[in-house]
Amino acid sequence: MACFRSLFLILIAVVCSFQANGHLSPGYYSSTCPQALSIVKDEVAAAIKNETRVGASLLRLHFHDCFVNGCDGSILLDDNSTFIGEKTAAPNNNSARGFNVIDNIKARLETACPRVVSCADILAIAARDSVVQLGGPSWNVRLGRRDSTTASRSAANASIPQPSFNLSALISSFSAQGLSVKDLVILSGSHTIGLARCTSFRSHIYNDSDIDPSFANSLQQACPRSGNDNVLAPLDRQTPTRFDSLYYENLLDKKGLLHSDQELFNGNSSTDDLVKRYAANTKSFFKEFAKSMIKMGNIKPLTGNAGEIRINCRKAN
Ligand code: HEM
Ligand SMILES: *[C@@H]1O[C@H](CO)[C@@H](O)[C@H](O)[C@H]1NC(C)=O
Ligand SMILES: *[C@@H]1O[C@H](CO)[C@@H](O)[C@H](O)[C@H]1NC(C)=O
Ligand SMILES: *[C@@H]1O[C@H](CO)[C@@H](O)[C@H](O)[C@H]1NC(C)=O
Ligand SMILES: *[C@@H]1O[C@H](CO)[C@@H](O)[C@H](O)[C@H]1NC(C)=O
Ligand SMILES: *[C@@H]1O[C@H](CO)[C@@H](O)[C@H](O)[C@H]1NC(C)=O
Ligand SMILES: *[C@@H]1O[C@H](CO)[C@@H](O)[C@H](O)[C@H]1NC(C)=O
Ligand SMILES: *[C@@H]1O[C@H](CO)[C@@H](O)[C@H](O)[C@H]1NC(C)=O
Repeated sequence: MACFRSLFLILIAVVCSFQANGHLSPGYYSSTCPQALSIVKDEVAAAIKNETRVGASLLRLHFHDCFVNGCDGSILLDDNSTFIGEKTAAPNNNSARGFNVIDNIKARLETACPRVVSCADILAIAARDSVVQLGGPSWNVRLGRRDSTTASRSAANASIPQPSFNLSALISSFSAQGLSVKDLVILSGSHTIGLARCTSFRSHIYNDSDIDPSFANSLQQACPRSGNDNVLAPLDRQTPTRFDSLYYENLLDKKGLLHSDQELFNGNSSTDDLVKRYAANTKSFFKEFAKSMIKMGNIKPLTGNAGEIRINCRKAN
């Protein structure tokens, strides 16, 4: 009897842990679209083979989706004559990219299993597959998100952290999403891959003192005080196409590209010890990164009858 009772309690605990994840589960499509994961993986691999940077772009899309009213595919909606969304909001305009890859994945999924796999889930899976493809950790992506029918430019403006933010503003921005200081430091490690525009790091290389002078000087050669806003520089100056922990080493050397990056380490900040830890221990960075990505992916998903499964990720049905 006692044995049955403990089995029952374990069952309750398992059921509750599913609920705590916002009803998302790794096996969500295993009967309705068993090919879903392999289709996304194939397309992400092909896209990265064509252009390595797009792996970084796909990771960022999932982040910018999740931080604005939850992971609901809202960033993918195109503006039109009667609708203004997030794609052209300040943090995304001329900067968010990878949309064609999502379109290609969606087209294949609509052929394989029409109206089953959400655009929000495609973003979550593509982010994981990009990280893996570029040498980072893997994790089981929780699935079952549905897509929004709308998007909010003002929420995108307000909720996506800016590169000019100081540490306390970064912490508040993450805390507003239910993410911890550790999640902030870990997820910022995404800047081990990808590129940023001059306009995103100009103020840091001309105005800040927490930057290595020769590093600042070399960036100033490419990014003038005015003009050339779209000139690109790697977020990880050493290995921008490799998912590793050199991002944190750069911070220890005062060679973070963005003001917000260097805020995480200044020799006297509350996050210094975390940066030191992950600079020294790639294994623990990878393990924590997987956990924090799952946590970010659980931000306010639409489930049940909320939202829809978009047919075209760029437009509400
Ligand atoms: C902590 C606050 C963060 C700030 C202030 C920030 C800011 C930025 C900025 C300004 C850029 C360059 C955009 C451009 O110039 O076009 C960028 C790029 C990028 N961000 Fe972040 N970011 C943050 C956190 C994150 C997180 C949490 C992730 C992923 C989970 C992420 C992933 C990326 C990636 C991969 C790129 C490169 C994209 C590409 O090359 O297309 N960032 N970020
Ligand atoms: C390959 O990448 C380039 C950007 O470097 C992009 O313009 C093009 O659309 C991509 N091709 C395919 C087939 O995805
Ligand atoms: C987005 O960028 C384009 C091209 O630079 C610009 O014409 C447009 O005004 C920008 N949109 C917004 C809403 O800022
Ligand atoms: C979003 O931010 C941009 C630039 O900071 C600003 O021009 C625009 O008015 C803002 N839009 C909304 C809806 O908040
Ligand atoms: C951080 O930025 C906020 C908002 O700009 C500002 O109010 C605050 O004083 C700054 N904090 C520090 C410690 O610089
Ligand atoms: C440096 O900071 C000042 C004051 O905030 C600002 O007006 C100026 O545009 C900044 N310079 C650059 C190159 O960003
Ligand atoms: C370190 O930060 C504390 C409080 O944040 C400050 O009182 C102290 O002066 C700082 N020390 C150095 C060396 O910057
Ligand atoms: C404009 O976009 C919104 C959101 O995707 C969509 O609901 C609406 O049908 C679109 N309108 C037109 C004319 O395409």
